[in-house]
Amino acid sequence: MAKFITFEGIDGTGKSSICEAVHKELLDKGYKVKHTMEPSDGWLGGLVRESYKRAISPFSEALLFCADRAEHTREVCAWLAKGYHVLCDRYVDSTVAYQGAILRPYFKAKKGQDLLTWLKDLNRPYIQCPDLTILLLCPPEICLERIGERGAKSKFERLDLLKAIEANYLELSKGSARFVTLDARGSLEEVCAKAIKIVKAFIGKELKPKAVVPTSEEDEPQDDEEDPCDKPCEE
Ligand code: TYD
Repeated sequence: MAKFITFEGIDGTGKSSICEAVHKELLDKGYKVKHTMEPSDGWLGGLVRESYKRAISPFSEALLFCADRAEHTREVCAWLAKGYHVLCDRYVDSTVAYQGAILRPYFKAKKGQDLLTWLKDLNRPYIQCPDLTILLLCPPEICLERIGERGAKSKFERLDLLKAIEANYLELSKGSARFVTLDARGSLEEVCAKAIKIVKAFIGKELKPKAVVPTSEEDEPQDDEEDPCDKPCEE
């Protein structure tokens, strides 16, 4: 069975580079594998990126991330159904962790309603539950230093916010079997090597490398395809 593997962590953990390195390694070894990300590279992902530049309600922003995911998930499930392992740089846990921190001051809850639970419930009807989630952990202070070296900071990249987001990630990973946490304080090479080891151990026995199948239009989801998603999240 093809596996759906997500990479999560606060900004500055090196997540995107690590996800790319794992993808390259699996491709080099002849696995059928796709690399994707959220916000997606589809038109709804474009809208999400457009929204960063606008004054937007944090609820509209949250719902845009979810709309992008609902569409992107169809693509992910179509790839899985065709036997590709899918590596996804951010997925549902990003919404629960980030919007769970950003919406906190605005959330008008019903009595006893919890923000993180509401965000999970909002996503549950259309997501595919990841088989494995690699959560990269690095102190927010170090992440901010790394981001500073990269150039201008986004609105999400503030110490107080990153700390709250990290706390949400830790809450999510607690007691969930699909999460593996990875210390991302080391050099990029070290962390990439560890991530590659974890992913290979996870999928290694399941799917031996196959002859590389070139990507064709047939791999893209067709509008009239039935929903191939088959793994809801119980959490
Ligand atoms: P982007 O610059 O497109 O990607 P990255 O910085 O990860 O390379 O912006 C992603 C930002 O959006 C990042 O700060 C996390 C945030 N985000 C959310 O707040 N909620 C979500 O559901 C997702 C997918 C991302």
